Amino acid sequence: MYTEILKIIEGGLSKDMKKVYSYSKLLAEKLGEDGDIKMSKSIIKLIENNMKSAATLDQLATAPVDQESRLSILDIYRPDNEETIIVLSDHIKSRIDDFVNSIKHQGRLKEMGIESPNTLLLYGPPGCGKSTLAKYISEKTGLPLVTARLDAIVSSLLGNTAKNIRKIFEYADSKPCILFLDEFDAIAKARDDQYELGELKRVINSLLQNIDQFAQSNILIAATNHQELLDKAIWRRFNTVIRIERLHDGELERLTKIFLQGVPNDFEDDKKKFERLTKLMHERSPSDIKSIIHNSIAQYVIKGHELLNYEDLLIEIYEFEHHGIATVEELVIYLNDQGVAQAAIAEKLSISLRQVRNVLTKES
Ligand SMILES: Nc1ncnc2c1ncn2[C@@H]1O[C@H](COP(=O)(O)OP(=O)(O)O)[C@@H](O)[C@H]1O
Ligand SMILES: [Mg+2]
Repeated sequence: MYTEILKIIEGGLSKDMKKVYSYSKLLAEKLGEDGDIKMSKSIIKLIENNMKSAATLDQLATAPVDQESRLSILDIYRPDNEETIIVLSDHIKSRIDDFVNSIKHQGRLKEMGIESPNTLLLYGPPGCGKSTLAKYISEKTGLPLVTARLDAIVSSLLGNTAKNIRKIFEYADSKPCILFLDEFDAIAKARDDQYELGELKRVINSLLQNIDQFAQSNILIAATNHQELLDKAIWRRFNTVIRIERLHDGELERLTKIFLQGVPNDFEDDKKKFERLTKLMHERSPSDIKSIIHNSIAQYVIKGHELLNYEDLLIEIYEFEHHGIATVEELVIYLNDQGVAQAAIAEKLSISLRQVRNVLTKES
């Protein structure tokens, strides 16, 4: 007789999760002892998976909210495994590794009276991986990532801004974690919108004070696309500053391959085509490249194609650049420039070979 089952049902009906967990565990143990190892393991696995999300929910429930809007001003990410993929140049990668290692050895370094870098400012164009990098560092160090989006906080009511900032730091101070201030320039940008200069100054000062106190013993990361908006007082607070840029040649190829996720295609092994593609990606951010490739993969799945075609990906790139607006003539010229044969252009665009030639003779 497994009386635990009754207790689990009771717990479920009264939404008492602790009861459900503890009796499920007991049940699993009993089943294990009685030889039903498979069922016992399944129960344990189920509890563990659920416990993780329950823990996150508990934490979110106690995370600060903006009092006016009741919206959470924080987002909490618990790193369970290393799933975030990021491609960086070797130089940047090694600087990030240094930062991660100094966090890992922080305790030991402190014992020896050595100050280790614990504040990191990431800046650079949008879509190049700053926010992703914060997640990556959280996974590498095993520390939860507490993200505060400053744009959301600053747009909250004026009187609340300083209060919200204080709440964020207090919360992050109360547990081992990395505090991540994303869209960090929002504070500076507010200068020309709804704030009076005096009030904004007070908000900035309170932010700086909070940073100073917090950074004595905690890990802080900030990210911005608009470094020109940050004043010197802010730059000085960060002991590691890294510019995250667009990628080049080898890195772009690596990134493209990652986003292709092994979808069968007719260009990855064709050196010329692949080089042409990555060259077209040069001006794009990794985020744009991801959208372009994922759009093509979506089309490939929806249309049930056997291969992801070089031409389809080219068209996707062109349309992405021109916000989805492309005439047949433009596409003919573009595909021709990218070395696609006239017959293949005609087939892809469902027009006759004669039409293709007409466009190209007009063009030349
Ligand atoms: N260097 C990179 N390597 C891999 N993926 C990237 C990289 N940069 C951006 N991405 C992808 O693009 C998307 C947006 O990146 P994000 O980190 O938000 O950029 P940022 O914060 O710099 O604006 C993410 O989904 C991420 O997967
Ligand atoms: Mg970002």
